[in-house]
Amino acid sequence: MTISTRSESPFVSTLPGRYYYDPALYALEQERIFSTMWVCVGRADAIAHPGSYQLVNVGQENIIVIRNREHILQAFLNVCRHRGARLCTEAKGQLKGSIQCRYHAWTYGLDGQLIGAPNVLDDERFERAEFGLYRVALEVWEGLIWLNLSDDPAPIASQINGPVQERFSDLSDFARYGIGELQLGKRISYDIHCNWKLVLENFMECYHCGPMHPELCQLLPGYKGGMAYIDSSAATLADGVEAFSLSGKASHPPLPGLRPDEQRLYYGIVLEPNVLLNLLGDHVLIHTVYPEAPDRTRVECDWLFHPDTMAAEDFDPTDAVEIFDLINRQDWEVCELTQQGMTSRAYRSGGVYVPKEHHIRTFCDFVQKKLEQ
Ligand code: FES
Ligand SMILES: [Fe+2]
Repeated sequence: MTISTRSESPFVSTLPGRYYYDPALYALEQERIFSTMWVCVGRADAIAHPGSYQLVNVGQENIIVIRNREHILQAFLNVCRHRGARLCTEAKGQLKGSIQCRYHAWTYGLDGQLIGAPNVLDDERFERAEFGLYRVALEVWEGLIWLNLSDDPAPIASQINGPVQERFSDLSDFARYGIGELQLGKRISYDIHCNWKLVLENFMECYHCGPMHPELCQLLPGYKGGMAYIDSSAATLADGVEAFSLSGKASHPPLPGLRPDEQRLYYGIVLEPNVLLNLLGDHVLIHTVYPEAPDRTRVECDWLFHPDTMAAEDFDPTDAVEIFDLINRQDWEVCELTQQGMTSRAYRSGGVYVPKEHHIRTFCDFVQKKLEQ
């Protein structure tokens, strides 16, 4: 069957099945998408003190994200400049003031400079400055750490402001959520047996919300009819619903920057390539999507609350966590079912996005364009 891709038709082709399982295409995505764009790798407040570090993977690289003596976050490839041994091996930790390679004991300062190399450092023919750790561009945006493996990347705003402005034409309206000030109330990590793109595509449409998310549709009735998550308008809580929680009751004060009319809205925003923002009246939820293999994805879901809310003696995030944990599990179930169909001959040339999903084709075009570069 041939599916029309005429620009006037809202019935457009999906990507062919191989985009969701072929190791060669996956490797190309790692190189041309995840190694050229700003990629989110976690929260800045998780690396709190000088010498604290975490290891993260971006593209094909393992990277040390570390806070230096001046309390600045920096990122370096986790590779010794002598003979290439991996330097740090624990996923996270606290270093005393230097990074030392086990092999021949070359030692680097927390700023990446080579400060020790037995028997060669005082050899005047040795250009010590050329053997510092290989630095990776890092920016903190709204409390999130973003890395970019490009040599000279454009500022992160050039990547992120566009998608945010699609929902908030005035960026100051978005800023009033104060995401960077919020703290982690709960994290759940999900291991999903599907390609990373299926997670993003699923988030981009609500055609599935009626059949898959009855509890969500009770809170946000606009979604029952398949309103798109990335529709330009926000979804509004149903009459009688106080907050986006499993019980529909409010157990936290609204975020302090929001106007009363904004406290009943839900916004979903995709920040390609790997962040899904969910803005609610009393908390913010962030999904960070980490591709692990062509058919494996880890999603870390962070529920963020205002520090004053979290300081309250009776603070309990359970109600807010339970609703989105339920939605997440419903979503992952169908993402995994979809993954199972990708290798079938029935999906060799792909499927179809219906009118309520046709905007997802923009994401597919973005992926294909990146892979062609
Ligand atoms: S490989 Fe690191 S010191 Fe030799
Ligand atoms: Fe969903």
